[in-house]
Amino acid sequence: MKASISTIPIVLIFVSLSISLTTSNDSVNFDNFLRCLSVHANPLVPIADAILTPTNSSFEYIYQLRASNLRTLLSSTPRPVAIITALHPSHAQATVVCAKHHGFQVRIRSGGHDFEGLSYTSDVPFVILDMFNLHSIDVDIESETAWVQAGATTGELYYRIAEKSKVHGFPSGFGTTIGIGGHFSGGGYGFLMRKYGLSIDNVIDAELIDANGRILNRESMGEDVFWAIRGGGATSFGIILSWRVKLVRVPPRVTVFTVPRTLEQGATELVYRWQQVAPKLPKDIFIRLQPQPIKNGSNSRTVRVLFFGHFLGQTDRLMRLMNTKFPELGLERSDCLEMSWVESTIYMAGFRNETSIDVLLDRVRVNRSFSKTKSDYYKTVIPKQGLETLWKAMMDIGDIMVQMNPYGGRMKEISESETAFAHRGGNLFMVLYMVLWSESEGGIDAAARHVELSRMLYRAMAPYASSNPREAFLNYRDLDVGSEESFGTDFEVAKEYGTKYFGNNFLRLAGVKAMIDPENFFKNEQSIPPLPMRATQ
Ligand SMILES: Cc1cc2nc3c(=O)[nH]c(=O)nc-3n(C[C@H](O)[C@H](O)[C@H](O)COP(=O)(O)OP(=O)(O)OC[C@H]3O[C@@H](n4cnc5c(N)ncnc54)[C@H](O)[C@@H]3O)c2cc1C
Ligand SMILES: *[C@@H]1O[C@H](CO)[C@@H](O)[C@H](O)[C@H]1NC(C)=O
Ligand SMILES: *[C@@H]1O[C@H](CO)[C@@H](O)[C@H](O)[C@H]1NC(C)=O
Ligand SMILES: *[C@@H]1O[C@H](CO)[C@@H](O)[C@H](O)[C@H]1NC(C)=O
Ligand SMILES: *[C@@H]1O[C@H](CO)[C@@H](O)[C@H](O)[C@H]1NC(C)=O
Ligand SMILES: *[C@@H]1O[C@H](CO)[C@@H](O)[C@H](O)[C@H]1NC(C)=O
Repeated sequence: MKASISTIPIVLIFVSLSISLTTSNDSVNFDNFLRCLSVHANPLVPIADAILTPTNSSFEYIYQLRASNLRTLLSSTPRPVAIITALHPSHAQATVVCAKHHGFQVRIRSGGHDFEGLSYTSDVPFVILDMFNLHSIDVDIESETAWVQAGATTGELYYRIAEKSKVHGFPSGFGTTIGIGGHFSGGGYGFLMRKYGLSIDNVIDAELIDANGRILNRESMGEDVFWAIRGGGATSFGIILSWRVKLVRVPPRVTVFTVPRTLEQGATELVYRWQQVAPKLPKDIFIRLQPQPIKNGSNSRTVRVLFFGHFLGQTDRLMRLMNTKFPELGLERSDCLEMSWVESTIYMAGFRNETSIDVLLDRVRVNRSFSKTKSDYYKTVIPKQGLETLWKAMMDIGDIMVQMNPYGGRMKEISESETAFAHRGGNLFMVLYMVLWSESEGGIDAAARHVELSRMLYRAMAPYASSNPREAFLNYRDLDVGSEESFGTDFEVAKEYGTKYFGNNFLRLAGVKAMIDPENFFKNEQSIPPLPMRATQ
């Protein structure tokens, strides 16, 4: 049977009602929680307008609207007892204080793009603190800075900067609906990474709500906490209310290109070469590879690799550089498009050339599918035989997105310990593997099979990827790299995934956690536990 999306909410509402009505004690506790919220919130902005319980007609709609992966959305995980769609910082503060007092876990959601849905699912009674409505952006060109609230999207940030200046931009993700709250705290990379590093490398201040409901800034949280929330996943430390960022300079015109090459057109040789060239190109050039299986004839498949480039400058200079540094690609003038930086953000996000930049203000991700994502870091060139292994695995899977992102440049200049984000020098590129499927390919019932396909591909690439540990990217969350069902009480388990995500920074992160949240209030299946006392000796 094909369950269409429109039939799903009915099932889900049934699930959530059964949770809120389990025992009379629970409902007494829940009523007390709601009362607590109104006591603690600023009376000028009624928190009642922000509280959605399963009896509110829009509860399920809002729950689903900001849940980006259908695999996690439609699995049978319980619904929250409430969604607090904060309309004022005090609503977020009250949620912390009252959830703690009444024993509910808090899941923090900004854009809802978490690949494993950790911002909106939990196995224990929980509330969702939804930051989506707190999305103001205050750009000050004179000081070249901006304050950005957690619920703002990358697209909104690009748009608001461009409203005030054509020669400023900001380095963050390709996607335009990603929430700043989650995105920055895991690092945040995009096509300006080789020039300016990650989003967090350009964050200069932040407002964070701690486990006692206090709002801290960089000065009052201290440099250790400020270090941790830049790359360590803020969700282990508190709630990001806003980030202050330093804008970066961009030229008035930039150049973008897409060059497709199939296996038959020598893609393997070119990708082999790209691995050696792309991480060493001048910082102004970023060339992402996007290989994808395509049909070739009725029964056969091939792989077509898109060389997807962004250059901080105009076509003439790009052509000169490419002709000396990477002539094998055969880039032609006619492949290149010149445009403003903000226009290039929508090109890099995959929109068609003629799309209006107003699309940056569309805050909710449409066209969601079922997916399972994994990531890898590569420190040595994948031999041609390894590339052939990858192509074969991709053609076998059929519906898969792979993206290979070159490092080097600015990423190499920043030390591993400068922020909590450890994947710096030594990496040639980072890869995303995303297995995709749709309702017509089995939907949620086919999840296990597709997850297994992603694991097969991951195993096949093991000989070529980084090892000991096999590094992984926090923003490409993958519970397979290790997870802690009891939410950070088993330090050894946490150390396993923590080392893959944070390398040598894991222990320092656990130390910061012990300082700011010793009771481990902020937690999820892959959070950072407080450093046990014995480990400090
Ligand atoms: C279409 C798409 C494109 C993407 N492109 C890129 C890319 O180009 N570059 C890149 O780096 N990543 C990219 N990502 C990954 C993305 O950065 C992560 O999924 C990121 O965590 C999303 O943040 P969010 O606020 O939208 O998600 P959420 O699901 O809301 O949150 C993700 C995590 O952060 C926590 N969190 C959210 N808000 C807060 C807050 N205010 N305070 C504390 N913790 C919080 C959540 O609890 C959760 O653990 C992409 C993802 C998608 C789906
Ligand atoms: C309700 O909770 C109290 C204390 O938490 C407990 O003593 C009592 O037995 C509970 N009642 C029910 C019906 O669960
Ligand atoms: C949710 O429902 C309650 C009870 O009907 C109502 O008082 C409240 O205003 C509703 N909340 C929202 C955000 O609509
Ligand atoms: C399809 O495969 C055949 C045989 O490998 C090859 O000759 C042809 O160029 C391919 N077509 C495309 C579009 O890649
Ligand atoms: C892109 O759009 C511009 C104008 O919007 C147009 O002049 C140009 O031909 C387009 N290029 C491509 C490759 O579609
Ligand atoms: C969503 O999918 C539809 C149908 O495939 C397509 O027409 C539309 O352009 C897509 N929208 C976006 C924003 O990708």
